[in-house]
Amino acid sequence: MKFLNLKSILPFSALLVLSGCLSPSRDTPPLQIWDDMKAQPKYKSQQQSPLFGDKRSSRRPPEGTLAIGQLAGDDAYRWGVVNSQYVGKLQEPITPELLAHGQLKYNTYCAPCHSRVGDGKGIVGIRAGAAFQPANLLEPRVQQMNDGELYSVASEGRRTMMGYRTQSTDHDRWAIVAYLRALHRANSGTKDDVPENLRAQLN
Ligand code: HEC
Repeated sequence: MKFLNLKSILPFSALLVLSGCLSPSRDTPPLQIWDDMKAQPKYKSQQQSPLFGDKRSSRRPPEGTLAIGQLAGDDAYRWGVVNSQYVGKLQEPITPELLAHGQLKYNTYCAPCHSRVGDGKGIVGIRAGAAFQPANLLEPRVQQMNDGELYSVASEGRRTMMGYRTQSTDHDRWAIVAYLRALHRANSGTKDDVPENLRAQLN
């Protein structure tokens, strides 16, 4: 039996390689001689599997376990709402660390629209025009909202504002609410709030 020599299979293999790029038009997928790894045995969602007694290919996590980071607090912590009422109080102890974290997250997520001081004059509103005006977070109406409501607006959004639940953690948003209260307080500050030894430096 005569073996094929290299010379005779070269044009043939070149054709095969080229055929990988072949397709009748730009809108149709290229011809596939071998499917490489494009098609491989795998389970799609809701498919059956003969491997398990209950025939489900999608397995439940072992009883009593949670994926890392999925531990949800109670309703008050997670949603800021209990029995259809916004919770009145911040769901975390107020510490200097919490405020610092809130400042970081507020400046990241909220300041582009509401500005660093909270007056609503962030860069987005300036550029967006009349159709999209972020609220002034220092106005009495917002100051009078309780902590759960502020947390809920930050999480779920309101009217034209989108929510930030997916971009931030529950802890981030409670910290933001704590920091918002600091902005409220700063906005109503007077000279008397400045320590006496520093008052001389005020203009
Ligand atoms: C992309 C811009 C944008 C960002 C970022 C943004 N907001 Fe807003 N926010 C708005 C707009 C616009 C409104 C006014 C919504 C309306 O009345 O239609 C608003 C309104 C609000 C209100 C008032 C709701 C009311 O009942 O009137 C609060 C409180 C608020 N935002 C908090 C936050 C906090 C906290 C963050 C950060 C987690 C944040 N916002 C981030 C655009 C933004």
